[in-house]
Amino acid sequence: MRAPGIVVRAPAKINLHLGVGGPREDGFHPLVTVYQAISLYDDVAASDGPGWSVAVTTADYIHPAAVPAAGDNIVDRAGAALASIHGRERIGSITIDKSIPIAGGMAGGSADAAAALVALDRLWRLDTSDDDLIRLAADLGSDVPFALVGGTALGTGRGELVERVVDEGSWWWVVVPSPRGLSTPEVFRHFDRMFPDAGEPAPADGVLQALASREPAALAPALHNDLQSAALDLRPDLADVIAAGEAAGALKGMISGSGPTVLLLCANRMQARVVAGAMGIAGHEVVLVANGPVAGAHLVEYA
Ligand code: C5P
Repeated sequence: MRAPGIVVRAPAKINLHLGVGGPREDGFHPLVTVYQAISLYDDVAASDGPGWSVAVTTADYIHPAAVPAAGDNIVDRAGAALASIHGRERIGSITIDKSIPIAGGMAGGSADAAAALVALDRLWRLDTSDDDLIRLAADLGSDVPFALVGGTALGTGRGELVERVVDEGSWWWVVVPSPRGLSTPEVFRHFDRMFPDAGEPAPADGVLQALASREPAALAPALHNDLQSAALDLRPDLADVIAAGEAAGALKGMISGSGPTVLLLCANRMQARVVAGAMGIAGHEVVLVANGPVAGAHLVEYA
């Protein structure tokens, strides 16, 4: 049982377009990306201390051993950063309830950080400005600002500069997590080895136009992920998952972010259920259905 308190929910992200350029001087890669928040969520509950503690519970399809050890995880850092800009002590009892696949290319850790910022701001009655929250989020990780903003957004810089885009579509995804995670830095390093001459990141015009059409059949051929070939080179088995999803009727399969989660865009909710059923029968133990866009980090329970 979770202690009563404030609960903030934050969504998983996927990248409808992920244009990656050659590494910058600081080692990060310039990105042009179109993020979409989808209906898989982590919840972060925050209540009064004593002291500071972070506990984790997981959905039945997530192995608890996959959760990064407490002490120096991104939620500890989010709490320290927020306390520090307000010159106060970091005191709180945090529980993270994880449903977003871990190390899957869906920014689950970033969602936790964003949710923790919003929950602790409320618990500590700080009323931090949106600008300060976004700045703190960007310092915590490239995907954290988007987890605050949600919806569908264009991301630039190293992914931390986000700008909402109009998306009136309703998009249905089958999400096939992998039992083994992939490390994001490792996939970026592999991208550098495979594409030593990468220049500027590819623009996102194709996906932005397709979104405006609200037609899944128009979005399918526009989906683009520059990290996909690096992820598939490290994990060739994932190509079979994509092919199986498309054979089952999905409009398009792709790797989510740096992987290894596979996303299957479907024409509608019913097709997503059919494709998910087929993937389950084919032996994939965990197959989820999600839709987007959904809201960024938001309060779902008040103290
Ligand atoms: O920003 P974040 O901490 O989430 O990034 C994790 C790692 O992913 C970075 O340390 C870096 O190796 C890689 N990365 C990158 N370029 C980006 C974003 C992330 O190389 N734009």
